[in-house]
Amino acid sequence: MVRRNAFYAQSGGVTAVINATAAAVIESCREHRDVIGRLYAGRNGILGALREELIDTGKIRKRMLTAMKYTPGGVFGSCRYKLGSLEESKAQYERLIAVFRAYDIGYFFYNGGNDSADTAYKISRLGRRMGYPLACIGIPKTVDNDLVVTDSCPGFGSVAKYVALATREAALDVASMAETSTRVFIFEVMGRNAGWIAAAAGLAGEGADAAPHLILFPERAFDEADFLARVDACVRRNGYCVVVAAEGVRDASGRFLSEAGTRDAFGHAQLGGLAPYLASRVKDRLGYKYHWAVADYLQRSARHIASQVDLDHALAVGHAAVEFAVAGENAVIPVIERRADSPYRWRVSKAPLARIANREKKLPAGFIRRDGYGITARARRYLAPLIRGEAYPPYAEGLPKYATLAPELAVRKLPPWKD
Ligand code: F6P
Repeated sequence: MVRRNAFYAQSGGVTAVINATAAAVIESCREHRDVIGRLYAGRNGILGALREELIDTGKIRKRMLTAMKYTPGGVFGSCRYKLGSLEESKAQYERLIAVFRAYDIGYFFYNGGNDSADTAYKISRLGRRMGYPLACIGIPKTVDNDLVVTDSCPGFGSVAKYVALATREAALDVASMAETSTRVFIFEVMGRNAGWIAAAAGLAGEGADAAPHLILFPERAFDEADFLARVDACVRRNGYCVVVAAEGVRDASGRFLSEAGTRDAFGHAQLGGLAPYLASRVKDRLGYKYHWAVADYLQRSARHIASQVDLDHALAVGHAAVEFAVAGENAVIPVIERRADSPYRWRVSKAPLARIANREKKLPAGFIRRDGYGITARARRYLAPLIRGEAYPPYAEGLPKYATLAPELAVRKLPPWKD
């Protein structure tokens, strides 16, 4: 086999464990030096390739690789940058291939969600069409847990753990003072189209009177009168009510309740602000004192309380991606395959990128309680293993010790790229 170089890029929203995947890719490439020469990482994802801002990971020491496994965010940077169709964005794709050619990139690892799987798939087709041999391997990650085929997505387990424990802790706070103070607590979590994260908050308690008392899912149209009646009934029965709401909750006409008015490069609406909106409706219509919280980036960066299972998944997909590349695979992605719920057993298997690209996995109807405001026993069986195990980072002076990488860019070989 001819030795060629590799390129790794992170894409889309980062997670608490995406750097662990990066560390695994780097480690595995080093184990295959006979096949993979240098491994470059893109600064800010695919933009790094277009702008020829490449970080030579060969300079990263072992100690830093270990630290990366404990560090949230994306040490190389990530981006939301849409490459259009092969026809519309021809110049961009040609630039990518030109950069890959200049660095003799024979392996492209793209660590992201369904949009990134689509991009990696397109690049694999382009390579073939342009007669440039390139193995494109996707690597799954997304806190939203909405990739099809894979049983779960690296990044999700840790967010799931964070929201479940934050809900459990906040509920104890609210319960303590409900008689004279706050009656309703509303916790907004991520999930624009799929309610996986909101569902995970349901692990905080079980039974009709345990918090969270009500969960709002994007999969169910919001009915304000019904919601308020349930909040009121819950306060009258329990003295307080804890609500978890997915940011992507919509009204019956399909409009997001929390649209902030801005859109990203993919045309996705920026969400956030559902919790204060719901809280004001509770106050206006029911008169209860409320508090609300928006977990926002706190949830996807909460590495201090990451799930060990999630970390194991993140490492495993990184290693598997390199093994696939070395085995001569192209246009594939490692996925998590569940073998059993209890005791939880899983393994990594292989799926074609084309099966994952651009598709979205919603919460199955069988995971949502019949009344639409909670999770079922089936959902608990699915979710419970994903939040198991603690993977604490090392601490110093009371704070986690995280990796800080000052990436040194490789010397440019091509003229600057003009978008
Ligand atoms: O990566 C997915 C996600 O975390 C969504 O759940 C959330 O709506 C979105 O990213 C936020 O994106 P951004 O950071 O680009 O505003």
